[in-house]
Amino acid sequence: MQLPAALNRAIDAEASQHDYKLLIRAVEEMSSRYRAREKEAGAFIGTPLHRAAYVVTRLPATYAAVASVLGEIRQRMPTFEPASLLDLGAGPGTATWAATAVFPSLQRATLIEQDAEFIATGRQMVKSAGADPIARMEWVRGDLRKTQLEPHDLVVISYALGELSERDATALVNKALASARVLAVIEPGTPRGCGVAHLARAVMLAAKAHIVAPCSHEGPCPMLARKDDWCHFAQRLERTSLHRHLKSGELGYEDEKFSYMVAAREDVSRAHARIIRHPLIGKGHIKLDLCTPAGIVSETVTRSDKEKFKQARGAKWGDTWE
Ligand SMILES: C[S@@+](CC[C@H](N)C(=O)[O-])C[C@H]1O[C@@H](n2cnc3c(N)ncnc32)[C@H](O)[C@@H]1O
Repeated sequence: MQLPAALNRAIDAEASQHDYKLLIRAVEEMSSRYRAREKEAGAFIGTPLHRAAYVVTRLPATYAAVASVLGEIRQRMPTFEPASLLDLGAGPGTATWAATAVFPSLQRATLIEQDAEFIATGRQMVKSAGADPIARMEWVRGDLRKTQLEPHDLVVISYALGELSERDATALVNKALASARVLAVIEPGTPRGCGVAHLARAVMLAAKAHIVAPCSHEGPCPMLARKDDWCHFAQRLERTSLHRHLKSGELGYEDEKFSYMVAAREDVSRAHARIIRHPLIGKGHIKLDLCTPAGIVSETVTRSDKEKFKQARGAKWGDTWE
C-alpha cells in the first residue's frame, strides 16, 4: 500500500518545519513510549516535535491499518456508499484521509479531537497537500467523553479508544453505535489493542448491532480462550525515504500490525472463515489457520484439489476464506 501523493507532500512539509536531529530524537522517544504503552494508557503527543514525529512515522502506519479495515467493509458490504464520516479522536485527520481514499462516495467529514494543536496540524496538512481530501471537512475540538454525536453513515475510532478508561470506552462505543450505520474501531495489533477490540465487540453485541468483520460469527470469541495468542492482522506499507531516514530503517516497507472490530446496524453476510496466521506453504500443501463459527481450526489444502490449491496460494493472513 502507498499513501496518496498529496498526503506524502503534507507529511514532508510538516517534517521540514523542524530541525532534523531533534526530529530523529523525538521519533526515538515516541517509539520507546509506544512500546511502554502496552502497560500504560494515555496520550503523549504533547510538543510540536512529537506531533511532527507522529505525523512522519505513525500516521502512515495508522493510515494503512484504517484503509485496510475500510477495504474489508467495502468487500463485506458492497452496496454501502457512505456520504458522511465521523472521525473520533481524529488526531491530524488520518482516518479521514484513509476513508476518502476507500469510499469516494464520502461528501462530508466531522473530525472530533481534544487537542487544538493536533487540529491545527491537520488543517495545515490539508493546505500543504494542496488538495482537500473531502469537499466538506469540519474540525470540532471536544472531549469524546462529553461531546454529543450527530448521525453519520460511517464512524471510525482509530487508535483512540485505548486511550480511554474501560468505562469511558464502553460509553463511547455505545454512543458511536447510536449515531452510526457502520462503526469501525481500530487499535494497535498488540494484546492490549486486541483487548480493546474485544471490549468494543462485547458492547456492539450487547447493543444488538451486527459484527461485520473480522469475525465469522457473533458467538463467543474462540481466541479469548487461547493463552499467549491474540487476534491481529498486518498491512504492508511502502516507506518514503524520509520515513526510512528518520527510523533508520533498511527495508523499503513496514508492516503495521492492528486489531479491529466493525459493526453495522443491519446484518451482513459474514465471511465463512478468516485466515488468522500467515499460511504455511509446504511441499504440495498449504496449511491455513482459520477462525470459523465452529472455533479455530487448521485446514490443509493439497495440490490434488486444484481449484482450492490455487485459491490457497493467493490467500494471505487476514483474508477471508470462503
Ligand atoms: C494515537 S492518536 C490517533 C490519531 C488518529 N486517529 C490516527 O489514527 O492517527 C489518538 C488521538 O485521540 C485523541 N483523544 C484521546 N482521548 C480523547 C478524548 N477524550 N477526546 C477527544 N480526543 C481524544 C488524542 O488527542 C489523539 O489525537
